Amino acid sequence: MAEVEHNFEEVKKNAGAFKLPANFKDYGEAGKGFKWEDHLKEVEWFGAPDLKNGSINAAYNAVDRHAKGWRANKIALYYEAADGRVEKYSYAELSALSNKFANVLHKLGIRKGDRVFIFLPRVPQVYVCFLGALKLGAIASTLFSAFGPEALRDRLANSEAKMLVTTLDLKKRVDEVRAELPALSCVMTIDKPKPVAQEGSYEDSEGQVSYEDEMASASSEFSIAKTGVNDPSFLLYTSGSTGKPKGVVHRHGGIVQQHLTSKWVLDLHDEDVYWCTADHGWVTGIAYNLLGPLSVGATCVFYDGRFDAETWYKIIEKYRVTVWYTAPTAIRMLMKSGDELARERDLSSLRHIYSVGEPLNPEAIRWGMKAFGLPFHDTWWQTEGGAMLITNFPSVPVRLGSMGLPFPGVQAGIVDDEGNELQPYKEGNLVLRPGWPAMMTSIWGDQARFDAYFKNGWYLTGDKAMRDKDGYYWFIGRADDVIKTAGERVGPFEVESALVEHPAVAEAGVIGKPDALRGEIIKAFIVLRAGFKASDELKEEISKFVKTRLSAHEYPREIEFTEKLPKTRSGKIMRRVLRAKEMGLPTGDLSTLED
Ligand code: WTA
Repeated sequence: MAEVEHNFEEVKKNAGAFKLPANFKDYGEAGKGFKWEDHLKEVEWFGAPDLKNGSINAAYNAVDRHAKGWRANKIALYYEAADGRVEKYSYAELSALSNKFANVLHKLGIRKGDRVFIFLPRVPQVYVCFLGALKLGAIASTLFSAFGPEALRDRLANSEAKMLVTTLDLKKRVDEVRAELPALSCVMTIDKPKPVAQEGSYEDSEGQVSYEDEMASASSEFSIAKTGVNDPSFLLYTSGSTGKPKGVVHRHGGIVQQHLTSKWVLDLHDEDVYWCTADHGWVTGIAYNLLGPLSVGATCVFYDGRFDAETWYKIIEKYRVTVWYTAPTAIRMLMKSGDELARERDLSSLRHIYSVGEPLNPEAIRWGMKAFGLPFHDTWWQTEGGAMLITNFPSVPVRLGSMGLPFPGVQAGIVDDEGNELQPYKEGNLVLRPGWPAMMTSIWGDQARFDAYFKNGWYLTGDKAMRDKDGYYWFIGRADDVIKTAGERVGPFEVESALVEHPAVAEAGVIGKPDALRGEIIKAFIVLRAGFKASDELKEEISKFVKTRLSAHEYPREIEFTEKLPKTRSGKIMRRVLRAKEMGLPTGDLSTLED
């Protein structure tokens, strides 16, 4: 296929006019892949500091660039707490607060490259701490607030985290594993313990610092680190089909793609109010509720409530949300609650609606048309990708059920297991040419796991897909054992490891079982230890055990006791056999199965 130069000028000109060039699809399909020079032009255009020396700081571009200009008093963030309390932050305020936090970190001995973890519910401090860490050149990481002690230990120990920001309540879970975290020198809480008899002392003050106290005395002036494009900015743990979660390292240069996708896909303009429902514990929350939309100067809504159809519609109505980014499970839950609920509210402010994380059923798109008068635009990407990779642009007609077209600078392909490119409509492995701006730079402390992503010059996504003759990509499924439940990525090994910690469990095999609402649910097959009797109470107990130790979303909703698990001769559990049996499908090649 002929190669086509990326024409960024043309795309830029047309972005926001809801119209992209007629031959737009060619950019991704036949593009040469990413070239820094093209993207650096974009960076210059959005005013990064000192770019000539190759320096770019993602936090500067997200916040300070606006705080220095006419957007200083523009609302960057509307925060609504679960109890209805509302707070507002302008770009100037976010800039000053994150400067203060960078000073606090420095005072506490945090330096460039140190890992700073944020283990918080949805509170504005997530923004302040994340941006502050980036400004210092530290590596920021977020942890989902549902994580239990085991999930926390795996991540904090693997990354040798030096600092953790949390709440008094969440801190208790870290305390359980603190002895296994020798590198963790500072734990900061955003709330304060009740004063005890002795004035000025904390209930359990060892190595514990108060956010409030430190921020109160910190300066709001800070000289932002001149980080290079390849310097690490944030680290997020995600799951594969084997082993414990892996730390995906992202670079400051990734802001270029988070910026451009916010502009050309989310189509964010100055007058937009944007709401992304993803939690900051996941990559979507970081790339698209923080870095990307802020870098284009949008106004973001950050809502701290649980899913509830009525409240969600109220949020859209109250803030006059114009651009909304959510996930298929949430859309299916809204569908379940009926479209009358949507019609009772004035949702006419909505201009574009988007989805990510799991396959978006055509039925959900049709429902969106009925309930909101708009099609959901699907976007496909991954934690490792750092930003949208294959997308439905607002200006390009939606093909129901397709993930869309590759973003400019991203070259995708469909290959067989040997790396040969396949013809349109042939099912195969979805691969990408490495090197797009937001691509991860490493897996923390594990070169071998990083290297395993690449083969024959391609980055392997782990997904199966096909491409049609016009270059649209269609998702088929995972090529490995990774589970997607309610849009969240779960590694079966992590759940199996937590299960075998229970005294009754001898062995466990974990799979994703198709589920109409959640996409998949976690199902565990368990072999009990001698002396334990199968019962519903035991199932309940084991489920609860994993839920509190590991995470409130990573526990098996279904448990089946079995005498034996299918294993290879080398002792590896054959999850595909469990899956096939569960679904009543042929079990395929069993030649490596042990007798
Ligand atoms: C799946 C989330 C179908 C896919 C940003 C991918 C999708 C994994 C879609 C990454 C989509 C993501 N259609 N499947 N539009 N988007 N996926 O790392 O299997 O949590 O590899 O990143 O989610 O999940 P992750």
